[in-house]
Amino acid sequence: MGLLVDAKLSSSLVFLLLNLLLVCSVNGIGVNWGTQATHPLSPSKVVKLMKDNGIQKVKLFDADPGILSALKKSGLQVMVGIPNDMLFTLANSLQAAEKWVSKNVSAHVSSGGVDIRYVAVGNEPFLSTYNGTFETTTLPALQNIQAALTKSGLSNRVKVTVPLNADVYQSSSEKPSDGDFRTDIHDLMLQIVKFLNDNGAPFTVNIYPFLSLYEDANFPVDYAFFNGFQPAIDDNGKAYENVFDANHDTLVWALQKNGFGNLPIIVGEIGWPTDGDRNANFLYAQKFNQGFISRYATGKGTPMRPGPIDAYLFSLIDEDNKSIQPGNFERHWGVFYFDGQPKYELNLGSNRGIIGANGVEHLAKKWCVLKGNANLNSDQVAPSVAYACQNADCTSLGYGTSCGNLDIKGNVSYAFNSYYQINDQMDSACKFPGLSMITDKDPSVGNCRFKIMIQTDSACMHGRFRPLGTLVLYVFLFYTMM
Ligand SMILES: *[C@@H]1O[C@H](CO)[C@@H](O)[C@H](O)[C@H]1NC(C)=O
Ligand SMILES: *[C@@H]1O[C@H](CO)[C@@H](O)[C@H](O)[C@H]1NC(C)=O
Ligand SMILES: *[C@@H]1O[C@H](CO)[C@@H](O)[C@H](O)[C@H]1NC(C)=O
Ligand SMILES: *[C@@H]1O[C@H](CO)[C@@H](O)[C@H](O)[C@H]1NC(C)=O
Repeated sequence: MGLLVDAKLSSSLVFLLLNLLLVCSVNGIGVNWGTQATHPLSPSKVVKLMKDNGIQKVKLFDADPGILSALKKSGLQVMVGIPNDMLFTLANSLQAAEKWVSKNVSAHVSSGGVDIRYVAVGNEPFLSTYNGTFETTTLPALQNIQAALTKSGLSNRVKVTVPLNADVYQSSSEKPSDGDFRTDIHDLMLQIVKFLNDNGAPFTVNIYPFLSLYEDANFPVDYAFFNGFQPAIDDNGKAYENVFDANHDTLVWALQKNGFGNLPIIVGEIGWPTDGDRNANFLYAQKFNQGFISRYATGKGTPMRPGPIDAYLFSLIDEDNKSIQPGNFERHWGVFYFDGQPKYELNLGSNRGIIGANGVEHLAKKWCVLKGNANLNSDQVAPSVAYACQNADCTSLGYGTSCGNLDIKGNVSYAFNSYYQINDQMDSACKFPGLSMITDKDPSVGNCRFKIMIQTDSACMHGRFRPLGTLVLYVFLFYTMM
């Protein structure tokens, strides 16, 4: 009896210690830092934002020199990315791959400590919507980048990977154990997986429970979150209570069935948007992200891979210039607004809630809205709104969105203002014929924010500021010559 108790006690002690070790070895959560914004925060502000919030890893979509230089000696681990449109060149030229590695990895690693850990070759290159465009170039590009890393002596510290959408595998049922790679790219996936395995590199997958809900109106809402959906899906004794685990383990089964059951997996993107769709709001985003992050912090994995997960939230900041081809939600994935301010309460792993970016300067407090006496029946209204929305951002209008309750006047004002702000409050950007006026009264109502853009540090580098910059220069020259 005593022996049994002791054995139990010591085994639970070992368990506790193991758990502690695991918890301690878990890295802070990573984030994706995308830059498709009309008014991006400066790289140094974003780096500070990440550090202030205890973020330790960042995934980039390219290798912007300004961003990499801001990451110098930041202590952040970095995944640099190669955009899909470079895959063809890198696949066809080892020399191009060597140049890429030399310029975009070696230079930063050696010249002062950017802690680059991974090169992401392509971004979801096998997405079904690309119709196979990148199927012949992804693997050769991966091989060339690996060869270039080896030649540069960096292959031990920098690993290659290919961030793939979860649509590269599927299951014939709701059970992960029925999973395998998509039939049309099955052989290609095996070649890639074998190559990653041979080079000690991880598989990177992007998993989106939000899209399950978006694409299927009958999807059980609770199964998208981490609160324990019942009845759980039973897969030969393993219980699945959320679609993230089931999706992740479908990949584990696909790998295992093909002989690569131990290949490390990185979750390259995971998150929830806050606007642009009826299921995209603060409540759901908070519930999903906090649910995931809290579990991540405990080091608890999935039924098939119970150990710690390695993951990057999508996304750090909103990007108002992203293509909305996937849906209006696409510009609203950020945990922070475009200006680095938090959207909702969240604990990213440090012991306090998230804190916003410092020292961000907004443009003046003025807005472009529909004139009080404007004639809404004017045949200028429709083309004006269409023009504004095409060239600015109206993804917060529409059913179930943050500004979905505006009346028609509010809608028109929202569109006008978005165009005006994206054009840096230029007077000429609030000249919708007989319809618009500038006001200093904030038209925002409730959650519906009539945004004001920020002053971008790099404004002079944008084409549209060049004339002004040149003018200033001439005036300056004129005065110095006098
Ligand atoms: C927005 O994206 C379009 C198309 O991708 C690009 O041509 C344009 O320069 C971008 N605008 C800004 C301000 O970044
Ligand atoms: C380095 O990366 C940048 C950004 O992705 C790219 O524009 C550039 O062409 C790359 N440099 C080389 C030498 O390939
Ligand atoms: C893929 O094919 C569809 C249907 O043929 C077409 O509408 C779409 O533009 C294609 N996409 C790309 C990226 O080639
Ligand atoms: C406002 O605009 C959105 C998006 O264009 C549209 O779906 C909605 O019906 C409009 N609302 C009104 C009241 O016109």
